[in-house]
Amino acid sequence: MFELNGRIALVSGAGQSVGEGIAKVLARQGATVIVNDLIATRAEKVAAGIVEEGGKAIARAFDVTNFDATLEAVRSAEAELDGRVDILVNNAGVAEGRIAKPFRELKPQEWAPSIDLNIYGAMNCIKAVLDGMCDSGWGRIVQISSGSARTGQNINVSMYATGKSGIEGFIRHLAAETGQYGVTANIVALGLQANLVDKMTPEMIDQLVATIPIGRLGDPIEVGAFCAYLASNEAGGMTGQTLDFNGGSQTR
Ligand SMILES: NC(=O)c1ccc[n+]([C@@H]2O[C@H](COP(=O)([O-])OP(=O)(O)OC[C@H]3O[C@@H](n4cnc5c(N)ncnc54)[C@H](O)[C@@H]3O)[C@@H](O)[C@H]2O)c1
Repeated sequence: MFELNGRIALVSGAGQSVGEGIAKVLARQGATVIVNDLIATRAEKVAAGIVEEGGKAIARAFDVTNFDATLEAVRSAEAELDGRVDILVNNAGVAEGRIAKPFRELKPQEWAPSIDLNIYGAMNCIKAVLDGMCDSGWGRIVQISSGSARTGQNINVSMYATGKSGIEGFIRHLAAETGQYGVTANIVALGLQANLVDKMTPEMIDQLVATIPIGRLGDPIEVGAFCAYLASNEAGGMTGQTLDFNGGSQTR
C-alpha cells in the first residue's frame, strides 16, 4: 500500500528542511522526484542524497514565482524523465527576504514576497502540471500550508498568513473542479517544525513546545509520510480537505 512506483513527483522548495523530508519519503515509496529549489546547490545536494540511498531524483533550480521559468523547468524535467508530473507538492512558502514585522510597521512595498510565493508560486506549479494530470485521469496535488492561515497570531506573520489562506481557498476550488478527472488536491496545515531550532533561542523553543500536546516539534520525515499517503492511489477518495499536522496543537 501507498506505493508510488512509476510516479513522477515535483516537490518545490525541497532543498532543505520540510521539503527535503517530503522529497526523501516520496522517493523511498518509489517515486522519481524532481527536487526544486531557488538555490541550485540545495536542490542538487538533496537529489544526490536520494540517489545515494538508492532512490530516483533529479534537481531543478527555478523560482516558482516566475511562471515562464517554472514551465520551462517542468517541461525539461519531464523530457529528461520521459513522463509527466503525476504528483505535485507545493512546499515552497518561506520567501527569501520576507520581512517579519507587525502590519503597522510594514510598508506597502514589503507586502508582496510572502503573498507572491504562497499564492502565485503555488499556482504557477499547478498550472504547469494540471493539464497533464487531467488528460491522463490521475493526479495528486498537496499544498503545504500553516495553522496561521486560519488562526490570528501576534507573531508578525500577517503577510505569510495572507498568502497561506489565499492559496487554501484556491485549492478547495481546484479540488472541486478537478475531482472529475481523478485529480485530488489537499492542504496540509503544519504546526511548528524541527528546523525552527536554527532560527530561535532554546528558551523560545521550550515555550513553543509547551503548547504542543506531543511535546516536540514536527519531523520532516513524518510530514513526508503524510504527503506520501495523500499522493498514493489509496488516497483517491480524499480531496478538498485541510488537514492539520501539528502535534495536536489546538492553537494551530
Ligand atoms: N518550519 C515550520 O515551522 C513551518 C510551520 C508551518 C508551515 N511551514 C511551511 O512548510 C513549508 C516549508 O517550510 P520550511 O520551514 O521547510 O522552509 P525553509 O525556509 O527551511 O526551506 C524552504 C526552501 O524553499 C526555497 N525557496 C524559497 N523561495 C523559493 C522560490 N521562489 N522558488 C523555489 N524555492 C524557493 C528556499 O531556498 C528553501 O530551501 C513552507 O510552505 C512553510 O510555510 C513550515
